[in-house]
Amino acid sequence: MNEVEQIKDRLDIVDVISNYVPLKQAGSNWKGLSPFKNEKTPSFMVSSEKGIWHDFSSGQGGDVFSFVMLMEGIEFREALEMLAKRAGVELKPRSSYSKKDVESKNSLYDALDMAMKFYHLNLPKNQKALEYIAQKRELKKDIIQRYRIGYSPDEWSKLSDYLVSKGFDTKQLLSAGLAKGKKDSSGVYDVFRNRIMFPVFDTQKRAIGFSARALDESENAKYINTPETPIYHKSSAIYGLAQAKDSIRKLDEVILVEGNMDVLALANNGYDNTVAASGTAITLEQLRILSRLTKNIKLCFDADSAGEKATSRALEIASSLDVKLMVIVLENAKDPDELIKKDKKLWEKLVANAQYAPDYIFAIANKKFDTTSAYGKKQFAAFVLPTIVSLSDEIETHHYAKLLAQSIDVPEESILNKINSTKDSKPVTVVSKPTLDDTKPTQKPKRVLSQQEKIERIILELMLANISARDALDDIEYDEISDLHTDVFKVLRTHPKYDVVRIAKLLPKLSDYVKILSLRGEQVYSDLTEHDARLEAFTQIHRLNKISKEKTKRQLTRAIAQAESNKDYATANKLLKKYQALINEE
Ligand code: UTP
Ligand code: MN
Repeated sequence: MNEVEQIKDRLDIVDVISNYVPLKQAGSNWKGLSPFKNEKTPSFMVSSEKGIWHDFSSGQGGDVFSFVMLMEGIEFREALEMLAKRAGVELKPRSSYSKKDVESKNSLYDALDMAMKFYHLNLPKNQKALEYIAQKRELKKDIIQRYRIGYSPDEWSKLSDYLVSKGFDTKQLLSAGLAKGKKDSSGVYDVFRNRIMFPVFDTQKRAIGFSARALDESENAKYINTPETPIYHKSSAIYGLAQAKDSIRKLDEVILVEGNMDVLALANNGYDNTVAASGTAITLEQLRILSRLTKNIKLCFDADSAGEKATSRALEIASSLDVKLMVIVLENAKDPDELIKKDKKLWEKLVANAQYAPDYIFAIANKKFDTTSAYGKKQFAAFVLPTIVSLSDEIETHHYAKLLAQSIDVPEESILNKINSTKDSKPVTVVSKPTLDDTKPTQKPKRVLSQQEKIERIILELMLANISARDALDDIEYDEISDLHTDVFKVLRTHPKYDVVRIAKLLPKLSDYVKILSLRGEQVYSDLTEHDARLEAFTQIHRLNKISKEKTKRQLTRAIAQAESNKDYATANKLLKKYQALINEE
């Protein structure tokens, strides 16, 4: 039995799903209200015996893994880790990811959890902090509770002393980003002091870091955030996601704001589907995580030029994802926190009137540039063109090309030429637009790659540029890899620590191709951390395996039909059994 089978064998799918959806027995099956649609009559079915679920209202279904992936908005690898823990199945360690690493990570989660509780319990003990959060910021008790807001005491080593007394050593505190070493190396001191503590959770609701706001307005740094640690990756951390997840899925919409306080103020007023990119500019990975929960992302950044910049950056990043970006344009306030306190009605109106992102970019351009001068026209075009080029739908491209032509009063043809020449020259060096599914092969034979080959190429880009992504090599089904890529995968497998130069040497015929792939990998995935690159590799391999399974299923279906029309029932039966075995594996 492999790990997946073992987990399925040990877990009752009804038990797992009951944690999310109340189920009632109905004959040999279990029934409940669909978690994917608002409905009054239950149409969500679970079979304990078969280990599967099916949602008749949305037509989705699958096994315990697909359910957890959808509900938690996580990828297969994360679901595997989560369910393995629940089932008490020990996953075999990955090559560059030893048992010791897992143990030391687990101790960091423990330290963060304890720190989060320490700060949270400490909040009511400090009058000033409590007043600030409950009165000045008007947060209700249940919000303070739900987001586990806390306070770090105004002392040098209160938390460190506490954690050491609980058995942690100072190395772990340093590695968790909770403490810093003193200059004279005589010990450690707390990173966070006299601050309101906003814990950041991962999708499994584990505390992984903090965003901490100064209580004292004279403090230079208003916010300080946990640095990059083995468990806190700022490019994928999303403030408020753990709390907002259910609501995002139910409303099929997420509101992405700039500040933690914006998230809290909105939740405080009953708008639960809000998250923030705590302390960073929004990244590809964050948008990708959100896109697993919903395709409808509404941005509401501050009403200043930094907010405007952040919005257009988000647009560029989003161009490689299948999401619909809308922009909420603030009025009468600098941020959502301020607005929601002033005028709830206006907030609702602005959300309802959110602009489709390309329209927003045009609106900004109209405000910014004087289109009566040649120079202004050029600036206007330069500002909106990247957005137009990034649109993947031809009808949309034409719509906005026409709009641009009208806005600056030039022939549409010259705009289209410009767009096409930009698209054609969109070379391997475009950093900000990772076109994951772009159809242009980068290697010599200029034929269009199949979907399978494209995914293989993405995996190779990740693995060539990032050694830790190679951990995922174990999950590849080698007999399914296309001829184009077989050799590269084989070399990676036999030499998982080699750099690109050495790998290219072993593949003289493919050496240029390998180098180009690694270059692309370095540029396209430049904002992924090692951790995220590794996760992305697992995700893509899982996608690949699914596709090849679908292909086998289609071939079997055809062969069965063929055998039946030849009245060769023995063969048809044999093939049918194979087909069913495949389905059962899913
Ligand atoms: P803002 O300065 O807009 O914060 O920063 P805010 O939400 O209005 O803060 P309040 O209302 O004064 O408390 C937005 C976000 O940028 C990050 C934080 O994550 C903050 O929530 N930030 C801001 C930092 O990381 N460091 C800073 O010094 C300031
Ligand atoms: Mn604010």
